[in-house]
Amino acid sequence: MKPQVVCIDDIERYALDNLNKSVADYYRSGANDEQTLAENRRAFARLRIRPRFLRDVSQRSLRTTVLGQPIAAPVCASPSAMQKMAHPMGELATAKACETMDTIMILSTISTSSIEEVAAEASVAMKWFQLYIYRDREVTRQLVERAERSGFGALVLTVDTPMFGHRLADSRNGFCLPPHLRMANFVAGAQASDAIQNRPTDGQSGLSEYAQSLFDPSIEWKDLRWLRSITRLPIVVKGVLTREDALLALKYGCSAILVSNHGARQLDGVPATIEALPEVVKAVQNRCEVYLDGGVRTGTDVLKALALGARAVFIGRPILWGLAYDGQSGVEKVFSILKQELDMAMALSGLSTVTDIANQSTTSSSSPLVVSENYYRSQL
Ligand code: FNR
Repeated sequence: MKPQVVCIDDIERYALDNLNKSVADYYRSGANDEQTLAENRRAFARLRIRPRFLRDVSQRSLRTTVLGQPIAAPVCASPSAMQKMAHPMGELATAKACETMDTIMILSTISTSSIEEVAAEASVAMKWFQLYIYRDREVTRQLVERAERSGFGALVLTVDTPMFGHRLADSRNGFCLPPHLRMANFVAGAQASDAIQNRPTDGQSGLSEYAQSLFDPSIEWKDLRWLRSITRLPIVVKGVLTREDALLALKYGCSAILVSNHGARQLDGVPATIEALPEVVKAVQNRCEVYLDGGVRTGTDVLKALALGARAVFIGRPILWGLAYDGQSGVEKVFSILKQELDMAMALSGLSTVTDIANQSTTSSSSPLVVSENYYRSQL
């Protein structure tokens, strides 16, 4: 019998209590001292919502679009690696759940279900493919071609990962993929598949060694031109945290920017994503859509991100907690909770549609929907 869960934190607690320790540590950890990991949550808590009342909120809708694709609510699934460690159906369960919930799933390059298996599971073009660029460009090109052929709607290029950040628990645990699972996007025997099964050097994470030997740390912004030249798919740049990189992403032809710090797993000490969002939104000036992931756990977090200019948010770990809780149904539960919470947050702050949130934020600088906690302190 599954325990009753009423919020994402309940699902997280269940997952952490029930997953194998090495897997739970891998999913949960941030880099080094985990300062940014804590800040991803704390920075949301430092924001205040200024609710407005008597504004007829009897009819509400959470529907919106991302890259022109209609979705049921502005909450989608970030890519996370190796989901079959959380549930035997892994990425296939996530794909099914996203299809049922009418939202976007981003499939990781280093998944335990292949591009083609996920495409067969969820047929609608609600899947985007996250790309790591391998030193061997032919490996990368084949991933792109397969995603395009399988009907994926966009490529999501992760730019914050020339190598993996140092997650201490993974090094202590000598984390590597359990032997019954595979990097499913690569044929057995290929280095990109088998290198993850190598026993890591003492005091190292196997995944970290995998990335170090295979990912290309020499990529530059101009390489986006190469990526553009081999695909017709829109490119979402994931991992931007500064106005400078936002402008470069635009210059090199991205279709959208996902403000992300990789769930605080890369460089400890970078800002919380909700702190970095306004700078990116301001630089972009509506020339492309901007999304956010990192620390989104409640409906009010979603509302705050949208109020600060995100078109939609993505969630990483909550998908893994949902899988560990109850596979596809668990992931659906995660989305349902966030939808209900967002719907209530909108009603209780006088907003009927997702567009109302964006409008209130952009048109009323004298009457902002979301302010920093300092706004109130400065008036005391
Ligand atoms: C990730 N993330 C990630 N990102 C990416 O581009 N490719 C990947 O393969 C992975 N893998 C991955 C595994 C695990 C276990 C985690 C927790 C995260 C980062 C992910 O896409 C996203 O940016 C963060 O997870 C968002 O933060 P929250 O929602 O987990 O706080």
